[in-house]
Amino acid sequence: MRILVVNGPNLNLLGKREPGIYGADSLDDIMKRLAIRGRELGVDIESFQSNDEGALVSRIGESAGRCDGIILNPAAYTHTSVALRDAIQAAGVPCVEVHLSNIHAREEFRHRSMTAGVCVGQICGFGATSYVLGMDGLVEFLKRKKA
Ligand code: DQA
Repeated sequence: MRILVVNGPNLNLLGKREPGIYGADSLDDIMKRLAIRGRELGVDIESFQSNDEGALVSRIGESAGRCDGIILNPAAYTHTSVALRDAIQAAGVPCVEVHLSNIHAREEFRHRSMTAGVCVGQICGFGATSYVLGMDGLVEFLKRKKA
């Protein structure tokens, strides 16, 4: 099984960026944790981060037929991007949306996700663990789909 992990804008700054909200782990630390869990689950992980909406749209668009599922933290584009939503829908690759923070407990503009409605599910509020929970849920979903 192959899973693509896509991270949106400013997540390259994790560890330094508002650690009280997003935690002390860098994106690299999170990816290392995911790789450990991935090995336990027999999953190959590929990762992509960009601050650019078009690059994220293109990467998701290229994922059809190249991976079984996507773990996506669209970051600020969660709340604005119809283009990302359309890309997920067009690719047809099962996607789980993850957030470090609980977006529903924050400013009102973060409560709405443009992308969650075309995802298998959304996990938020558990810091780096959101990614691990997201992968567990996605793998379970993909196994059930195959059976
Ligand atoms: C985030 C939440 C978003 O509202 C924010 O813009 C981010 C990070 C999270 O992981 O908690 O950049 O996606």
